[in-house]
Amino acid sequence: MDTNHIEKHEEDTHLDGGVSERGTRDLQVAAVVNNESEVDSRYEKRSRVITSEELLMVIKHYGLKKDDDDDRDLGVESFFGCGRLWPWLLHKFLNIFFPIVSIILFTFIFPILLLFRLCRFCVRSVFREKLAGKVVLITGASSGIGEHLAYEYAKHGASLVLVARREELLTTVARKAMEIGSPDAIVVKADVSKLQDCKRFVDEAIKHFGKVDCLVNNAGTGIVGLFEDQLCITDHASVMDINFWGSVNATHFALPHLKKSKGRIVVIGSCGGWFATSGVSVYNASKVAQQSFFETLRIELGSDIGITMVTLGMVDTPLANDDFLTEANLKWLPKESVEGCAKAIVNSAIRGDEYLTEPGWMHTVFLWVILLSDLMYLIRRFIVVTSLKTSLQKWKSLNTGSFQPLDLKHN
Ligand SMILES: NC(=O)c1ccc[n+]([C@@H]2O[C@H](COP(=O)([O-])OP(=O)(O)OC[C@H]3O[C@@H](n4cnc5c(N)ncnc54)[C@H](OP(=O)(O)O)[C@@H]3O)[C@@H](O)[C@H]2O)c1
Repeated sequence: MDTNHIEKHEEDTHLDGGVSERGTRDLQVAAVVNNESEVDSRYEKRSRVITSEELLMVIKHYGLKKDDDDDRDLGVESFFGCGRLWPWLLHKFLNIFFPIVSIILFTFIFPILLLFRLCRFCVRSVFREKLAGKVVLITGASSGIGEHLAYEYAKHGASLVLVARREELLTTVARKAMEIGSPDAIVVKADVSKLQDCKRFVDEAIKHFGKVDCLVNNAGTGIVGLFEDQLCITDHASVMDINFWGSVNATHFALPHLKKSKGRIVVIGSCGGWFATSGVSVYNASKVAQQSFFETLRIELGSDIGITMVTLGMVDTPLANDDFLTEANLKWLPKESVEGCAKAIVNSAIRGDEYLTEPGWMHTVFLWVILLSDLMYLIRRFIVVTSLKTSLQKWKSLNTGSFQPLDLKHN
């Protein structure tokens, strides 16, 4: 974990040399347990396991009521007497009527909503955002989707801030983007999983261009392999640090500038966030976390900053290379060209779309997952079984000794 996150956590607990509200309550409990009048702020006192006698002391001190388990023993009288009847009846009522009412409402609302979306799409397609003179910051611009997003934004005349760890590749991308039509492009070597790097590349963008109009959270990575075969589980922390925290960190520092410019955040997510396939458990989880974060941010920000959530299927990039697809048994999924994908993303962002799923047909898979979840589970389970067979055959052809779990880690 980034040390900055640890520092932040410590700050929360020791506000102004004191403790936060939650911290204070924890420490009060610790003080009661330790029979102390003075609150001791050392962590170890708060984190040790308390004995049952000490727990009773705490309950006595705070007058805490014994909870659910004990109430259950009290029988019918308490059920009617303690006010649990009405919540119980309410839930029974909602269990039966809410689905029925929802289905009736859907049949009315859905066609109207579809018509509204169609009209909005037409209007937005005509009045698209003009990118000339705008500044677009792209993370993970040294290869794959990020690189081609840079070329696509360059075609629209946007100035670029290109971020990634491989500086030489970034410089080549920047040069090519300027040949295509970008008036100016700077490169910043940075690691999005490091908080200070995120602050630095936003600062450098502001120093050079004076503003940021669009942040594209694209940098991402993945480790492939069945979860139980993983030899080193801590390797997976980097996936979360880059895919989730990388987007959060960059957004944190860019937010004030995006507010000023009434700008946009483009988030490159994955269909794996809602269509879980085997072999990429932590990667999928990182994309769910990323999506959930930006859905919440969208509600908090309202119309101040637009957010385009992109969920991608399989795109032909160095990340989705043959080794990766073989290990995750995803070779059967048709890949989209990276150029086509980048074009669709930029068109969607300048239309001001809230969501884009690319390729478009993956949208329908979402319906299958929601409506036919059991069947979809069986299909995906079958894929895992065949993938296990493939792994076993591969191992047999490579090894003659005793069985070892396959290290399917891919960097
Ligand atoms: N390809 C697909 O099928 C697919 C499907 C769904 C979603 N996606 C998403 O699309 C995004 C782009 O992936 P891609 O397919 O274009 O893969 P890619 O070609 O491997 O590109 C990944 C980019 O992220 C950068 N990056 C990785 N770790 C970084 C870090 N710590 N700090 C800064 N930059 C970092 C890499 O640059 P450096 O190594 O130079 O730092 C590279 O430019 C990812 O978020 C991925 O999850 C891809």
